[in-house]
Amino acid sequence: MAARCSTEAETLALGERIGTRVEPGDLILLSGQLGAGKTVLVRGIATGMGIDPAQVRSPTFVLHHVYRAGSKVLHHLDLYRLGPSADIRLLDIDEMLDSGGVVVVEWGEHASREQDAPASISIDVDDDGSRVITPASNAPARLVLAWGEGSRE
Ligand SMILES: Nc1ncnc2c1ncn2[C@@H]1O[C@H](COP(=O)(O)OP(=O)(O)O)[C@@H](O)[C@H]1O
Ligand SMILES: [Mg+2]
Repeated sequence: MAARCSTEAETLALGERIGTRVEPGDLILLSGQLGAGKTVLVRGIATGMGIDPAQVRSPTFVLHHVYRAGSKVLHHLDLYRLGPSADIRLLDIDEMLDSGGVVVVEWGEHASREQDAPASISIDVDDDGSRVITPASNAPARLVLAWGEGSRE
């Protein structure tokens, strides 16, 4: 299952559908080249969680942002600067998950967190500029439902 998002608005809408389905302790790893739309997707996820999307900024130079709405907490990480050998233990993702947060990681492939059964989502930029957004086959069905309501290919 993949969604083809031709516009930023479509990517935001997919993110919002994902954000309505996340649960405390979810770990979502995003992969895709610079400019693919990872931060845009996080903005949509925030919206779906009831968080003001204007708070969501690219954390490339900060590594970690935290957004809250009521009891909901969204941790937004970006491992771009840490690179493939990131010592992710410094960021204590376990504590974020155990405390009931939702954790979304840009450049999530640098996180080596397969043991947590994360939901991995890849974003590919097609020749026509549209984004093809695909959940990993082992992503929770409850999240994959977000794709069923959008455009498919
Ligand atoms: N279909 C689309 N989905 C998401 N972003 C898009 C799309 N088309 C164009 N864009 C643009 O691509 C850029 C994506 O930026 P960003 O989300 O910061 O990328 P990343 O976090 O992957 O580096 C934004 O400037 C956005 O407006
Ligand atoms: Mg980004």
